[in-house]
Amino acid sequence: MKNYKIALLAGDGIGPEIMQEAIKVFKLVEERNDVSFELLHADFGASAYFKCGHPFPDKTKAICDQADAILKGPIGLSHEASKKIPLDLLPERGALLPLRKRYNTFANFRPVFLPKALGHFSPLKPEIIGEGIDLIMVRELVGGLYFGEKEVGINERGLRYVKETLEYDEEQIRRVVHEAFKLSMRRKKVLHNIHKSNVLKSSVLWNEVLEEVALEYPQVEVKHLLVDAAATLLCLNPCQFDVMVMENMFGDILSDQGGGILGSLGLMPSACKGPEKSYYEPSHGSAPDIAGQNIANPYSMIGSVAMMLEDSFDMPEESRNVWNAMQSVFAAGYSTPDLSKPGSGVKMIKTGEFGDKVVAALRAMPIAG
Ligand code: IPM
Ligand code: MG
Repeated sequence: MKNYKIALLAGDGIGPEIMQEAIKVFKLVEERNDVSFELLHADFGASAYFKCGHPFPDKTKAICDQADAILKGPIGLSHEASKKIPLDLLPERGALLPLRKRYNTFANFRPVFLPKALGHFSPLKPEIIGEGIDLIMVRELVGGLYFGEKEVGINERGLRYVKETLEYDEEQIRRVVHEAFKLSMRRKKVLHNIHKSNVLKSSVLWNEVLEEVALEYPQVEVKHLLVDAAATLLCLNPCQFDVMVMENMFGDILSDQGGGILGSLGLMPSACKGPEKSYYEPSHGSAPDIAGQNIANPYSMIGSVAMMLEDSFDMPEESRNVWNAMQSVFAAGYSTPDLSKPGSGVKMIKTGEFGDKVVAALRAMPIAG
């Protein structure tokens, strides 16, 4: 029997509610498979700051260090509440970016997936959704503007100024681009390279390195696309995309647009891969406005569990079962108030009920092997 340690960082806002539902799935996966999970809870985010004075406490670091994989909930506070925390200890700067850096999670995979049957969630017209949206954005996650040198001060004209640098070396580009090609090989073998080489030198180098790596994957067709044009085409014709690869900041923005074309960021799980271990997280924020009401959909968190099963624990069949279980709950007409309006023919349920239904559907699925 395989034993895995999983660090659970519930985070802020709706984090603890949707984490509960992920735990139900871990428990059932254990029951159905020859595997055991040791679930290690740890404080992270603004809640950790208020409890122990730091958003990424040493105790949490130690737990994450010994874990085989990390499941992280959303973090962050409302704009108003954020003012109670010093700038550098805000959960984004003080916890999330240090987590990414600590485990060097250079490749972030964000599936943008909506089967045709769930097209009603999307703001796009049915003729645009066609047979469904099914693409994955691969975002570089530990370089670029996010981690570049920063300077603030007063310039010689007496004006406040700020300088942030966008830096990549070829190795940083190469490793994430390889991940995108490998993913393309397992899918449709079409890779969209998203860049801004008409303005940015960083994109010129990015494209150069990508072309070199492409020689190792001759079966993959590479299509180059400027990031601004990509934003338009994601709305006009999302079905042309299969795998898209891009640097950190572009990926932050376009992946939220990915959530937009699905109808909600609540439908966006993600995986952040490092050389030794990976962490998994919903792509959305902590939604403080609806926290504690038990109305947030746990899809992004349970989907992140599915990604963990496949990528960290080599359980692709069970991962597929978890995805299918979630889809079947939607297909049966159930939804939660954060995703759907009442009266739209939807059977409205709460966070916990959604998790229970996913678990029931998973229980009914045959185990492979
Ligand atoms: C994301 C988030 C983070 C990012 C924030 C919370 C710092 O928006 O994971 O996309 O900008 O990377
Ligand atoms: Mg983002």
